[in-house]
Amino acid sequence: MGVVLYFLNSETLVIKDSLDKDERSALLTGLPPLGAPDVGQIVCSCFNVGAKTILTAIKEKGLTTHQQVGQCLKAGTNCGSCVPEIKALL
Ligand code: FES
Repeated sequence: MGVVLYFLNSETLVIKDSLDKDERSALLTGLPPLGAPDVGQIVCSCFNVGAKTILTAIKEKGLTTHQQVGQCLKAGTNCGSCVPEIKALL
């Protein structure tokens, strides 16, 4: 018996004893589970923030710098290795 930890999205960490079929499929394919929002390919692994989440924030909030993205989503505010990808999305 083990414990499974995975991020459902950038804000929700799931802790379970086992996974159902859909959750297992999502974990193996890298696609969101049924009903979960598609955050896109993960850009910021420190905070589990996806490209679609970043692009939506850029568009809806008019973000123009990676610092603003960091203030809004935390992406890019830890190790910084994702900053070039965030800049590419801007
Ligand atoms: S990967 Fe984004 S801050 Fe570390």
